[in-house]
Amino acid sequence: MRAALFLPLAFLLAACGAAPRVEFADASITLPDDPGDLPEGPGRDSVIENCTACHSPSTMLQQPKISREKWEATVKKMVTLYKAPVDEKAVPQIVDYLLAAQAGEGDVSRETPR
Ligand code: HEC
Repeated sequence: MRAALFLPLAFLLAACGAAPRVEFADASITLPDDPGDLPEGPGRDSVIENCTACHSPSTMLQQPKISREKWEATVKKMVTLYKAPVDEKAVPQIVDYLLAAQAGEGDVSRETPR
């Protein structure tokens, strides 16, 4: 009984040892570009550290342009509602960055009150 179990196992192990290494023609993987990738700018690192764990940058950037107060409220909402572990000291940087990123996109200046 023991041998009957052992033999197939031995063959299996031998087969594994002899298996050719799988070589991939292309060793690097290119992930699809996120169209909403974060543009360069002060505060970008804070946004990456605090905001990109749960959703892509496009969730943040492809939004209607909003005021500073509304961005602050959005960040607060991430923390209170979704339990985002956001470093409180980084919040002003995050808000500045998001405002600038929005302004850089086009028609709205940094201080647009809305
Ligand atoms: C713990 C996970 C988590 C983190 C971290 C997080 N978010 Fe979110 N966020 C969510 C969820 C969940 C939603 C709503 C569902 C969705 O639209 O995917 C959301 C939606 C949003 C939206 C869409 C509009 C809205 O109010 O729903 C914006 C803008 C946003 N997040 C910005 C941010 C910013 C800025 C940060 C960093 C300060 C951040 N998020 C960090 C979970 C998170």
